[in-house]
Amino acid sequence: MSLLILGIESSCDETGVALVRSTGGVAVPTLLAHALHSQIEMHQAYGGVVPELASRDHIRRVLPLTEAVLAESGQRLADVDVVAYTRGPGLAGALLVGAGVACALGAALGKPVLGVHHLEGHLLSPFLSADPPEFPFVALLVSGGHTQLMRVDGVGRYELLGETIDDAAGEAFDKSAKLMGLGYPGGPALSRLAEQGSATAFKLPRPLLHSGNLDFSFAGLKTAVLTQAKKLGDALEARKADLAASTEAAIVDVLVKKTLTALKQTGLQRVVVAGGVGANRHLRAQLNAACAQNQVRVHYPELHLCTDNGAMIAMAAAMRLQAGQQTANRDYAFDVKPR
Ligand code: KG4
Ligand code: ZN
Repeated sequence: MSLLILGIESSCDETGVALVRSTGGVAVPTLLAHALHSQIEMHQAYGGVVPELASRDHIRRVLPLTEAVLAESGQRLADVDVVAYTRGPGLAGALLVGAGVACALGAALGKPVLGVHHLEGHLLSPFLSADPPEFPFVALLVSGGHTQLMRVDGVGRYELLGETIDDAAGEAFDKSAKLMGLGYPGGPALSRLAEQGSATAFKLPRPLLHSGNLDFSFAGLKTAVLTQAKKLGDALEARKADLAASTEAAIVDVLVKKTLTALKQTGLQRVVVAGGVGANRHLRAQLNAACAQNQVRVHYPELHLCTDNGAMIAMAAAMRLQAGQQTANRDYAFDVKPR
């Protein structure tokens, strides 16, 4: 059965809307159109996301973006079969905008709605690429709020293998960048600067690298970067690129090593990388090299779909429904799960 699914993402600082067509069976659903508005510029002046401003901007953007994807795909709102939205985790006020709009549209159209877990959206985002992965695979989920390794046997069949015990990888990028005065969002800024520096200039810790398990810890690294920055004092400015490169190398080393351990432990030959940090070029290069050596296939979402977007939410909903894992519901008394 063919289903037209509208997906809305509003968990943090990007408003994303997309239309996905599911044809049922085992065929991978297809992305018809997606539109995104990033609030980065708006929050930049404050050095981070201001929740109240985020919510207000989602309100301004979500309907125009919905109109844009309908126009681009040549579909009519009345033909949408299911309205999916990000139910959490994320900022409560921001989530409520997407959930409210999705449920209002669903109620008005008489169509069911489906709340999607934001991380499942990231996890399944590589299925939006031209060369989608096959199950089973190991997933490395690296975003601003999460760092997890998972065994994925199918839609909804996820086994957590390990995760961070403190900061997420994206947080480590963002906080280190902030210490170096690189502004928000720190990850991409630090990574750009790192290209001009030496990764071996500073000796930084690789926490839990040899712990034997698949857990991560990045809080100590952030402290080490702070100590190094203080020690440099006035010399920091001249050594910033080196410190950035060394920090990036430390984070990437741990992510790659643990991913290889997860592959070894599970015996799987396929890995999927998802979440904002998956856009990191150094991570991609290191992981590609390591996986090539071990005859492991790596799948990434397309670069522009690594960070938050509506396409991954519509895709996750489509795959859930197609797998019979979940049914959309007509209870429009929506709720959100910030944590
Ligand atoms: O998945 P995402 O868009 O939002 C969350 O769900 O958290 O991830 C955002 C995170 C931020 O911490 C950001 O700094 C990081 O991903 N990020 C990067 C890069 N692009 C985004 N970190 C390192 N290198 C990048 N190129
Ligand atoms: Zn995200």
